[in-house]
Amino acid sequence: MEGKEKAEVIRLRETDSTNDEVLRLVKDYGVPLFVRADVQTAGRGRMGRRWISNEGGLWMSGAFLKHHPKDNYKLMIGTALVVEELASRLLSGTGYVPEIHFPNDVFVSGKKLCGILVEERGDYLVVGVGLNVNQPEPPLPLATTLKVLTAKDYDLDALAGEIAEGVMKVYGSPFEEVFGRWRSKLATIGRYVSLWVAGGGEVRGKLVDVHPDMVLEIDRDGERLYVPAEYVLSVSEV
Ligand code: BTN
Repeated sequence: MEGKEKAEVIRLRETDSTNDEVLRLVKDYGVPLFVRADVQTAGRGRMGRRWISNEGGLWMSGAFLKHHPKDNYKLMIGTALVVEELASRLLSGTGYVPEIHFPNDVFVSGKKLCGILVEERGDYLVVGVGLNVNQPEPPLPLATTLKVLTAKDYDLDALAGEIAEGVMKVYGSPFEEVFGRWRSKLATIGRYVSLWVAGGGEVRGKLVDVHPDMVLEIDRDGERLYVPAEYVLSVSEV
C-alpha cells in the first residue's frame, strides 16, 4: 500500500484539527499516515459543526491517496466498522452493544460514542475519527464515553494503533466486501428517519435499505424514494 506495511501514527500534544495536520505532514512522511492529538483547538464534525476535542478523547486522522471513485465511501463506512468492532470488544460482557447509525456514527444506548469525518482534498482522502474514550463526562448530553460506560481508562496510543491498522485493512479491501459487512451491521435499517437532502429539504420515512451504489431506499407512507447518499446532508432517527 503505497510502500508502507505498518500504520504510522504520529502523536502530537495539540493541533487545530488532525484532519488538517495530517495533510500538512503527509507531504514529508508519505501515505498512508495517521496523526493523533491529545487536544484539538478547532476540531470539526460533519456539516461544519464544531467537534469538542478536550483531553481524554481519541482524535486522529489518516491520509490516503484516492485511487478509485468509491474510495471515499469505503473509508467512510469501513472506518465505522473498525470502530464498532473495537468498541464491541471493549464493551463485551458489559451488556452494552455498539450500533452503527447511517452513515458512520457509532452509538451506544442511544448516545454517540464516535463520529467520523471523511474529506477529499485534491488527490488525498482524509479520514478523521473522534472517539470519546477517557473523558469522565460526555462532551454533550447526547454523547457518551468509554469511561462513562465502563469506569475504566484506556491507552489511547494502543487504540489509535488498532484503528490505524484496521483502517489500512479496509482501504486495501474491495468496496463490495466492506459494503456488505457495513450493510449487515447498519442499525438504521428499518427505522424511521428524517433526511435532509441537498436541494430537496426534509424527507421523512422508513429507511428500507441502502444499496451497493450508496442509494438510500426510503418508504414514505407507501411511496418508494431513492436518494443517492451524496445528496444526503444528514440523517437522524425520529
Ligand atoms: C461527526 O460530525 O460526527 C464527525 C466528527 C469527526 C471528528 C474527528 S476528531 C479527529 C478529526 N479531526 C477533526 O477535526 N474532526 C475529526
